[in-house]
Amino acid sequence: MKKSYRIEPIDIALRESRTRNEAHVLYEAGRLELNVPRLLAIGRFCVYMERLEGKLLRDIDQRPGQFGEVGRELAILHESGIAHGDFTPANIMKVGKRFFIIDFGLSEITKGVEEKAIDLLLMKRSVDPRCYAAFARSYARHSKNARGILAKLDGIEERGRYKVRSVA
Ligand SMILES: Nc1ncnc2c1ncn2[C@@H]1O[C@H](COP(=O)(O)OP(=O)(O)O)[C@@H](O)[C@H]1O
Ligand SMILES: [Mg+2]
Repeated sequence: MKKSYRIEPIDIALRESRTRNEAHVLYEAGRLELNVPRLLAIGRFCVYMERLEGKLLRDIDQRPGQFGEVGRELAILHESGIAHGDFTPANIMKVGKRFFIIDFGLSEITKGVEEKAIDLLLMKRSVDPRCYAAFARSYARHSKNARGILAKLDGIEERGRYKVRSVA
C-alpha cells in the first residue's frame, strides 16, 4: 500500500504525459489528412476522439489488395516523424472501403529509424507474407527513407532479438 501511495505522483505524471502525447500525435496525423479518428477534446487522462464505425483488420478476411492503403498511411506517418509503436491489424480499422489507423497510445515523435523499422516488423509478424509484401511495396513507394528503414528491419531480424515495448 505504502509503495503504491509513494509512486502515485509519478503514475499521474506518466498518464498525463501519455495522454498529451497521444493527443498530439492524433492531431498531427489528422493535420496530414491521414485516415485517423478526428481529435475532439483532451482530458487530463483521456483523449476524446471520433468513434469510427467499422471492423478491425484483425477480424476480417485479409487480402493483399487491402494493404496498399495501409502501407501508404504508415509511410506518410513516418515521413512526418511519427512512429506508431503498435502497428498491427488490431490497430487498423476498415471503415467502408478505407483503412484507418487507431491507438496512438505508444506512438512517438522520433528521428530514429529503429522505431519505424519496428512498426514494419510488427506488421510483418502479424499478417500473411503476401499481405506484408503488398504493404511493404506501397510503403516503399510512399516513403523517401524506405531504403534505410527496410535495411534497419533486416538488421533487427538478423540480430534475431528485439523487444517490443508494452505498457501495462
Ligand atoms: N476511434 C475509435 N472508433 C471506434 N472504435 C475504436 C476507436 N478507438 C479504439 N476503438 C476500439 O477500442 C479498442 C481498443 O482501443 P485501442 O485504442 O486500440 O486501445 P488498446 O489497444 O491500447 O486497448 C480497439 O481495438 C477498437 O475496437
Ligand atoms: Mg489497440
